[in-house]
Amino acid sequence: MLASALLLTAFGATVFAAPVFPDLTAAAEAPETIDTMTEYFTLLAEKVQQSRLVSAAPVCDLSNAVLPQSMSNPPLPPPSSGLVVKHVAIGRGTQNYTCDLSNSTAVPVATGAVATLFNVSCIAATYPDLAKMLARVALEFNLTQSEASRKLAPSNLIVSGQHFFTNSTTPFFNLDVTSDLKLGEAPCAREAGSPAPSDAPRGQQGEIAVPWLKLKARAGATGSLQEVFRVETAGGSAPATCNGAPASFEVQYATQYWFFEKPQ
Ligand SMILES: *[C@@H]1O[C@H](CO)[C@@H](O)[C@H](O)[C@H]1NC(C)=O
Ligand SMILES: *[C@@H]1O[C@H](CO)[C@@H](O)[C@H](O)[C@H]1NC(C)=O
Ligand SMILES: *[C@@H]1O[C@H](CO)[C@@H](O)[C@H](O)[C@H]1NC(C)=O
Ligand SMILES: *[C@@H]1O[C@H](CO)[C@@H](O)[C@H](O)[C@H]1NC(C)=O
Ligand SMILES: *[C@@H]1O[C@H](CO)[C@@H](O)[C@H](O)[C@H]1NC(C)=O
Repeated sequence: MLASALLLTAFGATVFAAPVFPDLTAAAEAPETIDTMTEYFTLLAEKVQQSRLVSAAPVCDLSNAVLPQSMSNPPLPPPSSGLVVKHVAIGRGTQNYTCDLSNSTAVPVATGAVATLFNVSCIAATYPDLAKMLARVALEFNLTQSEASRKLAPSNLIVSGQHFFTNSTTPFFNLDVTSDLKLGEAPCAREAGSPAPSDAPRGQQGEIAVPWLKLKARAGATGSLQEVFRVETAGGSAPATCNGAPASFEVQYATQYWFFEKPQ
């Protein structure tokens, strides 16, 4: 894919369809939202300018994609040697929690997550700074709308998969959901975690960003998928206590998921 096409994809506008500006979430009224949107569209405009100036526009080459490094302690272990990037997605959805209401000192317990995955492979490989902003920007927009249009608001990035839990310790990724892109399925297990950087984007209600993770595929994975990384997280954490919380609740989050495969 050429740079110009890539940027149109990130911009959400094409010459074929009149762009319908998606709804911001009701919660996204904080002044930071305006700053986030301004930064994002300013960066996009810069990339468009730059791509006009270069004679050979960069093309989508996943071998150029570099997994963002965690700066926190402990850092995440790197991908195992010999693995290559197969896919990069923005995951946009909810982290689910429960609270034991019969216990006045109970803390929220994570019960899993549900997210829709949107294909950002080419953006991550070509414009990592733009990709970094996408989770934060996506968190400000209504997921119902992105799911209905199958495009990550406010972009034209299309759905590439689904993420959910099959039991409390098995995050599952299905990258076989679209007809043209069957990249495999992977039940996973957590191998390591690293706190999100202190300046990571907060959630719609100011929630801390969930940790960065390294997941290993369990038996039964297809498409040669071996490892999945959750990085550049935005929002998603539960409050520290169950004070005033219902028995079960959801916290909106967005993140990048990086899928690594063993080349055949
Ligand atoms: C999200 O979008 C859907 C469909 O357009 C709409 O019904 C819903 O009210 C919106 N939710 C929020 C929180 O804006
Ligand atoms: C989506 O990602 C894959 C690889 O991860 C890439 O080959 C493909 O071209 C992408 N599709 C679109 C429409 O961007
Ligand atoms: C988590 O949230 C999703 C999305 O709303 C919901 O469909 C699912 O039932 C919830 N799961 C749990 C275990 O609460
Ligand atoms: C109440 O919650 C606290 C904090 O999670 C826990 O240590 C304690 O064992 C719980 N008490 C009961 C009776 O479940
Ligand atoms: C969850 O599912 C995985 C994979 O099927 C299995 O290995 C594990 O034992 C299960 N754990 C629980 C707590 O059920």
